[in-house]
Amino acid sequence: MKRIAVLTSGGDAPGMNACIRAIVLTAEHFNVSVIGFRHGYYGLLNSEHVEISTDMVSNIIQNGGTILHSARCPEFKTEKAALKAANSLDALGIDALLVIGGDGSFHGAHHLQQYWHKPVIGLPGTIDNDIYGTDATIGYFTAIETALDAIDKIRDTADAFERVFLIEVMGRHAGFIGLSASISSGADQVLLPEINNDNEAAFKNLVARIETTREKKGQCSYIVVVAENLWPGGVTALAEKINSELSIESRPVVLGHIQRGGSPSPQDRILATKLGAYAVECALQGKSGIMVGEQNQQLVEVSLPHTWQNQKPLDPYLVKIQTEFFDILE
Ligand code: F6P
Repeated sequence: MKRIAVLTSGGDAPGMNACIRAIVLTAEHFNVSVIGFRHGYYGLLNSEHVEISTDMVSNIIQNGGTILHSARCPEFKTEKAALKAANSLDALGIDALLVIGGDGSFHGAHHLQQYWHKPVIGLPGTIDNDIYGTDATIGYFTAIETALDAIDKIRDTADAFERVFLIEVMGRHAGFIGLSASISSGADQVLLPEINNDNEAAFKNLVARIETTREKKGQCSYIVVVAENLWPGGVTALAEKINSELSIESRPVVLGHIQRGGSPSPQDRILATKLGAYAVECALQGKSGIMVGEQNQQLVEVSLPHTWQNQKPLDPYLVKIQTEFFDILE
């Protein structure tokens, strides 16, 4: 094996640069050169590539974003696109492709593998942590820290004004960031897709809990972490509903894309480094159609379709703490 390629695709995540660095340094150790495609699968289709030297990856471990840039590429789903990508990989003399990204990026990698019969390996990079088969994804830990830092700050003003704050966190359709941010910030309540499937019931419970808390403590602040895509209209609509039905002042805050940025946490840098190095080793061994991940501190290989065919569960004990032990009405 002489030359491997790497691309970052989908929502960027802190630690992607650390992962690229680990790939390049490990490949160098094995005398393999690395080509990077820019803008995810678009770069693969449009021959946007660059040879990544070890110089290019010095001093990037601490940076968020991705030096290769990222994109979502719906066009890549077609047979024509996969054939074009296979041809350009062959034309460049690429022996393996490493894809750092989330669920959509893994679908792309699996699709390509039907048309290009050399190693294609996925590395889980998304703040959402919604990839089955790995305990954590690259970027998840940093996103929790960012959300936590914001919630701690919001709590200061919430306490000063004794208001209800509804704080929307990312996660697409998964509640990992929401649950972790809520437990670590000591939020009063959390609304997550895995726990709340009936919005009316969730609203009644929310109102009842706010009222009970106020009966006990008097006017006080109340922090609710809400997963994005859960409440129609988001936290702005939810805050309006609370304001109209209760004589309580509530405020919505959408944390948004700040959760995708920032310098990666040590945990993300370490995970990214470990998975980047291991992906190169797997490629050298001719392994293909897999995601490299980590379970209980052990490196694992999981077939790409398994990563999206199974739903990754939230930590059941954290759910129990939040919804049973700490739920005063249940
Ligand atoms: O998958 C990462 C993520 O940040 C999700 O949490 C979020 O739903 C989505 O990407 C936002 O995507 P975009 O940046 O395209 O708006």
